[in-house]
Amino acid sequence: MATFQTLPGFREFYPEDLARRNHIFRLWRQAANSFGFAEYDAPVLEPLELYKAKSGDEIEGQLFNFTDKGGREVALRPEMTPTVCRLVGAKANALKRPIKWFSIAEFFRYERAQKGRQRSFYQFNADIFGEPGPEAEIELIALLIQCLGGFGLTKDDFYVRLSDRDLWFFYLEALGFDAGQTRELLGAIDRFEKMGDEAFKAYAEKFGALDAAKKERILGFMQVRSLAQIEGEVQKLDQQKIAGRLADWRRLLDGLAAMGLADFVQVDLSVVRGLAYYTGFVFEAFDRKGDLRALAGGGRYNDLVKKLGGPDLPAVGFAIGDVTTGLLLEQRGLMPNFVQAPDVYVVIGGEAERRVAFGDIQALRASGFRVEYPLKDAAFGKQFKAAAESGAKLALIYGGDELAKGVVKIRDLAARDEREVGRDTVVAAVRDSLSGG
Ligand code: HAM
Repeated sequence: MATFQTLPGFREFYPEDLARRNHIFRLWRQAANSFGFAEYDAPVLEPLELYKAKSGDEIEGQLFNFTDKGGREVALRPEMTPTVCRLVGAKANALKRPIKWFSIAEFFRYERAQKGRQRSFYQFNADIFGEPGPEAEIELIALLIQCLGGFGLTKDDFYVRLSDRDLWFFYLEALGFDAGQTRELLGAIDRFEKMGDEAFKAYAEKFGALDAAKKERILGFMQVRSLAQIEGEVQKLDQQKIAGRLADWRRLLDGLAAMGLADFVQVDLSVVRGLAYYTGFVFEAFDRKGDLRALAGGGRYNDLVKKLGGPDLPAVGFAIGDVTTGLLLEQRGLMPNFVQAPDVYVVIGGEAERRVAFGDIQALRASGFRVEYPLKDAAFGKQFKAAAESGAKLALIYGGDELAKGVVKIRDLAARDEREVGRDTVVAAVRDSLSGG
């Protein structure tokens, strides 16, 4: 029997599950529209090469890849970023700047399935191309907050941890590390929260033991939680580059504060992000209680469009996942209970009445009402029971007696009162009853 079960980490959406997923997508889409982002989509299967040495070792190890019947090396997409870079890169000159795009799509990663992590999941991706300054980060972090705030989640439920790989590069350079060592160290910093000291093992294997005093400074820099602290730390370094970077930090934080979002944002230099392509500001959203894996992650990736064959185009973006978002909404009681009840349940006497009722059912549905009826003839009692169970607000009754008089009975199932209406006025009468008239 095992072959008939879902593969581990893949999800089935029964109607009530799909209603919840659709609810999440609907509010994400609404947020993106209000920020003026345009929606796009792309293939789910991509050349394996697109992810090799671009997304980073972790994602590369999680790819669902195979050779297709034409001998091509292909992979199910594990993320959208390389794909959207290709799309934008191919038409960059024709696109109006700034390019603000979003998508909602399914992704695949061969991860160990656990709470908040599956092998198939959906992401909302939003990215801005062509804007080098922190104004793009302001727009995206504000959108990320709206993507969670739209559900009723507040600053007490989630927050965005904000960090900067540029600052890390400058800092580590000042400590005497070269670019290769710095990249390895950023990997260690990314793993540190999960693994502790073990995270530095890979560095030691490649470059020899890390100097104890330098390690102290690195661990200290990871503890930085405010702009004032950043300013204090970098003063000791005395570097020109850092002055410009601090100006970017101030613009970013001032912009977010002016939008009233300061309470959602926490400077946190322990965040560096695991993906290989990030170049500047990086950020991740988490629930405040810290029960869940990351809700969202993103950052600047100014080199990727060019690396994938496009023009030199600065870019920044983020993705938010449906799995952790759904878990957080459930935990906070913010996931609505979706009842898919009809507006009208039609009760039908017999074959002759059915034929008459069908015309009205079509007219009601064409007018936008949700209408159900029993597919097979059944006793009236059984049909009224079905009408009550369906959750319909109204029952329309097509009995022999009614039709002989040229009327239809309309029953308010909650108020338990009924009236007769002329057959030619059924649609108007239903509209009237449902609007409380
Ligand atoms: P990421 O941090 O790998 O970033 O994923 C973003 C979000 O997708 C995560 O915070 C999480 O909510 C969700 N996610 C990732 N993997 C899984 C999984 N196995 N199961 C469930 N949810 C998952 C990226 O993917 C970047 N491409 C984001 C980006 C867009 N950067 C710039 N633009």
